[in-house]
Amino acid sequence: MITEVSEKELMLQREYIAKVKEINSKLSEIPLAHVHSFGCQQNVSDGEKIKGMLALMGYGFTRETENADLILFNTCAVRENAEDRVFGNVGALKKLKENNRNLIIAVGGCMVQQEHIAAKMRKSFPQVDIIFGTHVMHNLPQMIYEKLADRKRTLSIPECDGVIAEGLPVIRESKVKASVPIMYGCNNFCTYCIVPFVRGRERSRKPEDVFAEVEGLVKDNYKEILLLGQNVNSYGKEYGVSFSELLRRLDSIEGDFKISFMTSHPKDCTEELIDTIADSRHISYHLHLPVQSGSDRILKEMNRHYNRERYLKLVEYAKKRIPDVALTTDIIVGFPGETYEDFKETVELMKTVQYDSAYTFIYSRREGTKAAAMPDPVTDEEKGVWFRELLEVQNAIGEKAYERFIGKTVRVLCEGIGRTADGLMTGHSRHGVIVDFNGTMDMIGQYVNVKITKSCPWAVVGELVGDTD
Ligand code: SAH
Ligand code: SF4
Ligand code: F3S
Repeated sequence: MITEVSEKELMLQREYIAKVKEINSKLSEIPLAHVHSFGCQQNVSDGEKIKGMLALMGYGFTRETENADLILFNTCAVRENAEDRVFGNVGALKKLKENNRNLIIAVGGCMVQQEHIAAKMRKSFPQVDIIFGTHVMHNLPQMIYEKLADRKRTLSIPECDGVIAEGLPVIRESKVKASVPIMYGCNNFCTYCIVPFVRGRERSRKPEDVFAEVEGLVKDNYKEILLLGQNVNSYGKEYGVSFSELLRRLDSIEGDFKISFMTSHPKDCTEELIDTIADSRHISYHLHLPVQSGSDRILKEMNRHYNRERYLKLVEYAKKRIPDVALTTDIIVGFPGETYEDFKETVELMKTVQYDSAYTFIYSRREGTKAAAMPDPVTDEEKGVWFRELLEVQNAIGEKAYERFIGKTVRVLCEGIGRTADGLMTGHSRHGVIVDFNGTMDMIGQYVNVKITKSCPWAVVGELVGDTD
């Protein structure tokens, strides 16, 4: 069952926050916390809430682990190398703990939500004090208090369908761009993917809660709102409010800001959504539409519920409706049973779509998923060869992709100093494309119009002008 964390439970945690604050206020110096989130934007967003709670508990923050009093890793389980990195990082903390017995080490998030990983972490890394899963993040104040007060080691990874905790404090990484989770969890069970197992069932925040948060952020002068969910297109089933409807409501907010979102599952992406983007005032002209494979046979094995034809139809419609739409994707190479012929279909699809960029991954076996039990005869070396072939194809496409903007005038939020050449300022266009231009420092935080004169593989360059097209 999905439950909203009750006001009573949150009250209790606020009491623990006060208790930890009291302990910390007696120290001669403000204690420092080092928080690092691995993985996706959702995890980064959770990390911002963790920081929000820690700040209320009296912690300052440090980027270095060496001078921290509390180190917290918010982990990711999506691929094996993500987990290996965490084990490496946690292992490296052993020395720090030996030198400072008061150091608190906490590991939370998707990776430790898996029981076998939590067990390994507990057994092999005695330096870790707190291990907490994805459904109990809001209880962190209690776990930290118990560690400070009783030196108690905590392992909390309850199995449940998932919770929604509204109203947690948050410290945002950026003053310009704010992430807003609109839903949590996933019900899709793509056969390769661990996310549904570690994040629980799909659940949406109430549309009025999302609206109030976005409205508040716009009032606070945030310029980009990133709506988050593993599959935003299935938002709002509980409330009879579709994702397109939510977008239209948010688009009605007055102000100078952009709305973007991640991630769209092609099976639930509709022409209505594309129309909503095309007809909006604020929504980014960027669609991240993970295809995973170009082969119908593999898509079926992956349990993706769309085929190549449907995907290409969507892309065609997006190109027709949204001016110069920016398309990006995720692709997995070497899914169990994939043949070179299947792989070639992915390459062909890539050439047909002409993505601005693609996130490409070699398949990683995840314990407990359906694909983990499928025969996987292709060697890692072979998969590596395919992977590099795919990269080359995309690099060649990416090289030329932004040429379509040359001669056009785009609206850009000036964000800071550019990287393409000395003396240029930089920002993003409505398409999410990096634009460097001849601006000045006083333009930071303002929207300007830039005529594009040159394109590179990862940015475009242009000159300030008066009007937009
Ligand atoms: N919910 C998002 C994706 C979240 S995971 C969606 O459905 O699009 C981000 C990406 O990681 C996925 O799109 C997929 O390409 C990749 N991925 C997930 N599991 C993987 C695995 N076991 N091996 C390799 N790549 C994987
Ligand atoms: Fe994983 Fe598929 Fe859910 Fe995305 S939609 S999180 S790939 S199971
Ligand atoms: Fe990783 Fe969890 Fe995100 S597994 S990709 S951090 S939802």
